Amino acid sequence: MKILVTGATGTVGGHVARRLSGRGHDLVALVRDPARADLPADVTLVQGDLTDPDAVRRALDGVDRVFLNMADDNGAVFAKAAADAGPGHVVLLSSFTAVIDLPSGAGNIITARHRAGEQALTDAGVPATFLRAAGFDYNILMWAAGAADGVVRAPNVDVKLPVVDPADIAAAAVAVLTAADPRPGAYSITGPHSLSVRDQVAVINETLGRAYTVQEISEADAAAAAFRPGTPDFVTTSVLETMGSGAAVLTPADGVKTLTGNPPRPFSAWVADNAQAFA
Ligand SMILES: NC(=O)c1ccc[n+]([C@@H]2O[C@H](COP(=O)([O-])OP(=O)(O)OC[C@H]3O[C@@H](n4cnc5c(N)ncnc54)[C@H](OP(=O)(O)O)[C@@H]3O)[C@@H](O)[C@H]2O)c1
Repeated sequence: MKILVTGATGTVGGHVARRLSGRGHDLVALVRDPARADLPADVTLVQGDLTDPDAVRRALDGVDRVFLNMADDNGAVFAKAAADAGPGHVVLLSSFTAVIDLPSGAGNIITARHRAGEQALTDAGVPATFLRAAGFDYNILMWAAGAADGVVRAPNVDVKLPVVDPADIAAAAVAVLTAADPRPGAYSITGPHSLSVRDQVAVINETLGRAYTVQEISEADAAAAAFRPGTPDFVTTSVLETMGSGAAVLTPADGVKTLTGNPPRPFSAWVADNAQAFA
């Protein structure tokens, strides 16, 4: 089977490519900069950008299945090219925001992008599975990676979210991509427990033998601390809303188990795998 992986230089797509490697598939990755792509040897690189119709057409040539990470794009170019090329099935890395309204509603750029991506594939008649992921385990690094003094400063530290390991999202994607008859539809892809920043820091301390403490900061201070200077307010607000109380209506779901047969990994497993990130 010929499988195209997009976002293969990123976190989820990288896991997808490595999980598919060595299993006899004809693997292709659409990458913007092949020189920076550190992928298994059986992955053929196609240089290009998701917003470039010619590059997407080249990448889709003869492809049976696709893992699609739209990154900052809205999926329109990909959907049109896929409607023409006719890959048998697309697995879209989507987000819980596709179905849960955050305070800015459709004005939240993350919500808008994922809704547009799902809609573009649906409107184009492309057979697809939407993996609506909860916040990723690695989001804690927005606050903990810079905690050189041992204090994790974050907003909304008691908001509990069912954060998910990107490796589980990839496992779910690969299960669909390699199925004889891929399951269509939408799945809520979450971790096993709802954890606040405070809970996650406790797990980090326990797993890695650390003694981080937690200090709540305002969203304005968080925006200044975690984003590049000059980042527009609508961008910082959109991201911070995905970690705020409006997101807490999302609860642990069975998407990972349904698609992979295995329960989602606990946050502690992701922490152990990424110990180097807590230098
Ligand atoms: N973080 C969360 O909590 C969360 C929750 C739900 C959903 N999501 C969604 O998950 C996705 C992020 O996944 P991730 O962490 O695996 O991504 P990541 O590690 O940030 O990597 C992004 C990947 O997309 C590629 N890319 C970016 N723009 C591209 C373009 N215009 N054309 C082609 N490739 C492009 C990047 O390639 P280069 O190497 O060229 O940069 C990289 O491979 C986003 O869509 C996000 O909205 C995130």
